[in-house]
Amino acid sequence: MNSRNDEAAISSGLKRLSIEIARPSPALAARFAARLSEVASRPDSVPIRLDGAKIEARKDGTLLAAALKNGVRVMHACGANTLCATCRVKVVEGAENLSPMRAKERLSLRYHLSMSPRVRLACQARVLGPVDAEPVFPLCGTLPGES
Ligand code: FES
Repeated sequence: MNSRNDEAAISSGLKRLSIEIARPSPALAARFAARLSEVASRPDSVPIRLDGAKIEARKDGTLLAAALKNGVRVMHACGANTLCATCRVKVVEGAENLSPMRAKERLSLRYHLSMSPRVRLACQARVLGPVDAEPVFPLCGTLPGES
C-alpha cells in the first residue's frame, strides 16, 4: 500500500467522523427546533422579572399589563390613570429598557413624593427590553376568589 492510499483512507475516515460528531442528537435537534419556532411565533415578547417572577411582556406594553396577564399581583387603585401611584415599582435593572417618562407620570410621582429616578409607574412604563422591577407596595394575603 502506498502513502497516497493511506492519506486518502485517513482523510475519508476523519471526514466521516467529523460529520458524525457535528450532527446533534435527534432529541436535541427537536428541542432546538421547537424553541426556535416558539420564539419566532412571539417576536414581540420580552422576558422581564417582576416581583421575582420571570414573565414575558409584550414589547411596548406596560409593566402593569404584563403583571396582570401573568398573574403577578401589583396594586393599581386608579385603573392606570396616573392618579394613585399605587402601581409604583422600583426598577432594579434595565431602567434604560423602559419608555422615557412622560409628563403625566412625572407629575404623579412628584405629587406622591417619589423622587427616586429608579421608581416608575407600572401603568405608564412601557417595556422595550429586559427589565427587573419590584412593586413598592406589594399585595399581601389573598383576594376574594383566590385560594
Ligand atoms: S394604577 Fe394608579 S397610577 Fe398607576
